[in-house]
Amino acid sequence: MPIRWGICSTGKIAETFAAALNSVDESICAAVSSRSLEKAEKFAGKYGFEKAFGSLEEMLSDGNIDIVYIASPMACHYEHAKTAILAGVNVLCEKSVTLNCEQLSELLTLAKTKRVFFMEAMWMKCRPSFLKAMEWIKDGRIGSVQMVKADFCNSVAFDENDRLFIPELGGGCLLDLAVYPFTLVEAVFGGKPDNITSKARMGKTGVDFDMAAILEYENGFAAVTAGFDAQCGNNAAIIGDKGHIELGNWFFCTCDAVLFDENNAVVENFHQDNLCNGYEYEIMEANRCLSAGLPESPLVPHAGTVNVMEMMDECRKQWKFQFPEEM
Ligand SMILES: NC(=O)c1ccc[n+]([C@@H]2O[C@H](COP(=O)([O-])OP(=O)(O)OC[C@H]3O[C@@H](n4cnc5c(N)ncnc54)[C@H](OP(=O)(O)O)[C@@H]3O)[C@@H](O)[C@H]2O)c1
Repeated sequence: MPIRWGICSTGKIAETFAAALNSVDESICAAVSSRSLEKAEKFAGKYGFEKAFGSLEEMLSDGNIDIVYIASPMACHYEHAKTAILAGVNVLCEKSVTLNCEQLSELLTLAKTKRVFFMEAMWMKCRPSFLKAMEWIKDGRIGSVQMVKADFCNSVAFDENDRLFIPELGGGCLLDLAVYPFTLVEAVFGGKPDNITSKARMGKTGVDFDMAAILEYENGFAAVTAGFDAQCGNNAAIIGDKGHIELGNWFFCTCDAVLFDENNAVVENFHQDNLCNGYEYEIMEANRCLSAGLPESPLVPHAGTVNVMEMMDECRKQWKFQFPEEM
C-alpha cells in the first residue's frame, strides 16, 4: 500500500523534501499544512499535494494521512509532533527533533503509548555512503576506531529574522549544525561519551554562533566543530588503528565514502549518485518501516536520537545556555 504523506510547514526544507517525495514511487503527496492557507495552497499546487490546510490540526483530522513530516523551526517541533502523535498520526520530525531531552523523552513515551511511529529526519543515517562507512567499521576494515573528527561550519549572513539566530525558535549552530557531527560520533562509537568538554561563542542574539567539543569514550575520542561564522569543507574522518574512512565534501550528505589502509593508500572508493536530491532515502526508510509495522526505524533508532540530544544538553549546560522556553 502506498504511504500517504502530509507536510507540516512550507519553508525551505519542506520544498526540498516535497521534491524528493514526488520521486519515491510508494509515496502519495496527500496534504500540506501551513499557518497560512494561501501558502499551503500554493505549495500544494507546486508539488502536487491533494489537499491544503491552514493549520496542522485541520490536516491531521481531514487530510487522510499516514505520516506527517514536520518541517517547522526547532522550537515548534515539540508541539507539532505532540499534536500529531495525540491524533494517532505517525511522525517524521526534522532535526534537531526537540530543544532538549525532556521534550524528546515525553514525545517518545507518548508515541509508545499511542503506538505511533516516530523518527528523527536524520537523512544522513539513511544515505548509502553513511551506511557503507558503518559496514566497513563493522567488518573491521579500519580495525579498532580510535578517533572521529567532524566539522559542520556553514557561513551564514546574519539576519535577525532568520530562525538560525532567534532564541525563541531554537536558533544556534548546536541544534542546527552540530547535530550531524554528534550523530556521526554517536553512531561510530555506539553510544554516549564518558565525558564532554565544550565551548561556544555566543552571538549578538544570544545563541551559539560557533562551538567546539571534545568527546571522550573509553577507547577513543572525537573532535567536533560547528558554526555560522566560517565556511569549511565539512569533512569527517573515522580513524582506526588499521586504516581510516573519509566522508568528504559535506560529510552528512556526501555521495562518497573512501576507505584507506594503515599506509594511507585508498583501498575502496564508494560512490552512489542520489536518486533525487538525497532526501529520498529517509522517505524510503520511513515507508519501509510503516509498511512493516515497525514502531521505530532500525537506521535511525530512538536510542541514538536520545543519546545525541543528551550530548547537546550537556554542551548547553556547560555554556550555561537555556532557550527562553526553558527558563
Ligand atoms: N535535513 C536537512 O538537511 C535540513 C536542512 C535545513 C533545515 N532542516 C530543519 O528543518 C526545519 C526547518 O528549517 P527551514 O530551513 O526549512 O526553516 P524555514 O525556511 O525558516 O521554514 C520553517 C517554516 O516553519 C513554519 N513555521 C511554523 N511556526 C513558525 C514560527 N513561529 N516562525 C517561523 N516559521 C514557522 C513556517 O512555515 P508556514 O509559514 O508554512 O507555517 C516556516 O516557513 C528545522 O528544524 C531545520 O533544522 C533540515
